Amino acid sequence: MLDIQNISKTFNAGTVNEKTALNHLSLHLNEGDFVTVIGGNGAGKSTMLNAVAGVWPVDTGKIMIDGTDVTRLGEHQRAKYIGRVFQDPMTGTAATMQIEENLALAARRGKPRTLRVGITKKEREEYRELLKTLDLGLEDRLTAKVGLLSGGQRQALTLLMATMTQPKLLLLDEHTAALDPKTALKVLTLSAKLVAEHNLTTLMITHNMKDAIKYGNRLIMMHEGHIIYDVSGEEKKKLKVADLLAKFQTASGDELANDRMILS
Ligand SMILES: Nc1ncnc2c1ncn2[C@@H]1O[C@H](COP(=O)(O)OP(=O)(O)O)[C@@H](O)[C@H]1O
Ligand SMILES: [Mg+2]
Repeated sequence: MLDIQNISKTFNAGTVNEKTALNHLSLHLNEGDFVTVIGGNGAGKSTMLNAVAGVWPVDTGKIMIDGTDVTRLGEHQRAKYIGRVFQDPMTGTAATMQIEENLALAARRGKPRTLRVGITKKEREEYRELLKTLDLGLEDRLTAKVGLLSGGQRQALTLLMATMTQPKLLLLDEHTAALDPKTALKVLTLSAKLVAEHNLTTLMITHNMKDAIKYGNRLIMMHEGHIIYDVSGEEKKKLKVADLLAKFQTASGDELANDRMILS
């Protein structure tokens, strides 16, 4: 479903701020793979997701989504394949618009848009049913402005919006890091449920190694712009946080590796 072939990306090339964020990175995901992504601060995790989403072109290499070469496509042209949720609950939804208007915009993603967001009665009922599944009482607040919702409610809504058009890829970038632990657990549980229901091919960056082990069928660790550890299936299920720390130490050559280095 996703084939990243040997991509590299250097920011600010030729200046004192030159930084190679992706260094000959390759990754192949099968349909339905739910991959958790860990690695230290600056390892290139967000950059990898940005490369897939087409935020800017990569310097070298090739990116295929479901057999289509998207390497030269812009972010807009790839949007129909991709659902994304970021760390900041404010970024995924439009605060000044109603819940149903946000859902309608998400439903029309990748399709020609009309100027006005006309919502039919049938659509409204669909949205109500979808919102019910969140179990947050939002189904009775269809016309409430999204700006009134809590961070957790907004992330839950953003997840719904990111997955309602059955994207080929779901990209989650520390999407629960800004939430309190209880709310984070709710949103993670919802994420796993939506991924399973729609069999979504998913990349989920997390700074929490326990979550990285708990969720998904595969785990990758990044360091200095490429993947240094890739584990799946039964082997992944047996992992302990200490194993991940040891892997990180070996790969980075850092004797002083601690959970903060890899978690932050
Ligand atoms: N748009 C950008 N311009 C310049 N440098 C960037 C940009 N995006 C990321 N970087 C740099 O690339 C490296 C990897 O960043 P990032 O992918 O955000 O790391 P993380 O693994 O923490 O998500 C960092 O050194 C970061 O400063
Ligand atoms: Mg990041």
